[in-house]
Amino acid sequence: MAEISKDLVKAVKLLEEGKLIGMPTETVYGLAGNASIPSAVLSIFEVKNRPKFDPLILHFSSMDKAEPYIIEIPKPLKILIEKFTPGPLTFLLPKSPLVSDLITAGLDRVAIRIPTHPLAQSLLERVTFPVAAPSANPFGYVSPTKPSHVNDQLGEKIPFILDGGDCTVGIESTIVGMELDKVCVYRKGGLSVEAIEELVGEVKVYSQSSSKPAAPGMLHSHYAPNKVNKLFSMESIESLEFDPKSSGFVTFSETIAGVPKENQIVLSPNKDLNIAASRLFSALREMDNKEIKTLFLELVPEVALGRAINDRIRRATNS
Ligand code: TXA
Ligand code: MG
Repeated sequence: MAEISKDLVKAVKLLEEGKLIGMPTETVYGLAGNASIPSAVLSIFEVKNRPKFDPLILHFSSMDKAEPYIIEIPKPLKILIEKFTPGPLTFLLPKSPLVSDLITAGLDRVAIRIPTHPLAQSLLERVTFPVAAPSANPFGYVSPTKPSHVNDQLGEKIPFILDGGDCTVGIESTIVGMELDKVCVYRKGGLSVEAIEELVGEVKVYSQSSSKPAAPGMLHSHYAPNKVNKLFSMESIESLEFDPKSSGFVTFSETIAGVPKENQIVLSPNKDLNIAASRLFSALREMDNKEIKTLFLELVPEVALGRAINDRIRRATNS
């Protein structure tokens, strides 16, 4: 198992040596490696069992530090950077020759993210190289939001997890880029589409069911855990056929009568979408570890972070 610790000096040293570590961010934990060492980048794909056509995000402590790796920043994205970085947003920007094809899977844009998590900031301030970090889960599984999630699945393969506690946002970053003059959202995430549109006007939002995703990791079943997962709605609960003992429920705000307490997780009794987002992946993991056969998931209101939550729920249920 990996060492879980707050030792920044050790975290930096391991990255310098080309080793991989678990890195906290406010969205989800990353599987971090030194992007200037090709063997370290290759081992990220190996440890995650991730196909090489799925490109990686480069993490920096500030946009200034990312400058050598990009050619230019289009105006609307500059506005978003000024307002929302550091934060749960990733930018697709034209890459400079310093960025290898292994990072971008041969694409001409590179993904750049400036996380706001204090420990991630401290780590990134101390290094002189870009840190490549996909979410620290095996390919096709939900992202980790606690050090123990990383340890459970990748602890045998990496030496160290930097302990930044529970992720406060709990859902991956929103990915934005430009197509001609239009801002596009390629992945709905920790910053709402509404917040982006308030600053730059209407954006194009790619849907999760897009058959030709511009962000290759957005393939349909990307978030499916091990159970048979199904959508359900509270309105039709009376007519839902299920075995209370072998069924689990993840609901937005209400509990369901007749289902054992331990087989239900309510994301936010107060209907707070931010809290629901921060608890979703943890809830899916908890349910995945239970002796149930079918997991029923309820969609949340399709606004603000609810849009990202519903995107992940639809992926988990392949609907
Ligand atoms: O919140 C996050 O973004 C987390 C934390 C650790 O920063 N990272 C994360 O990375 O979610 P990952 O690799 O699990 O998801 C990144 C997504 C993938 O779907 C990938 O295909 C897409 O970003 N992506 C990365 N570089 C890209 C590029 N150059 N063009 C298009 N899509 C890209
Ligand atoms: Mg991921």
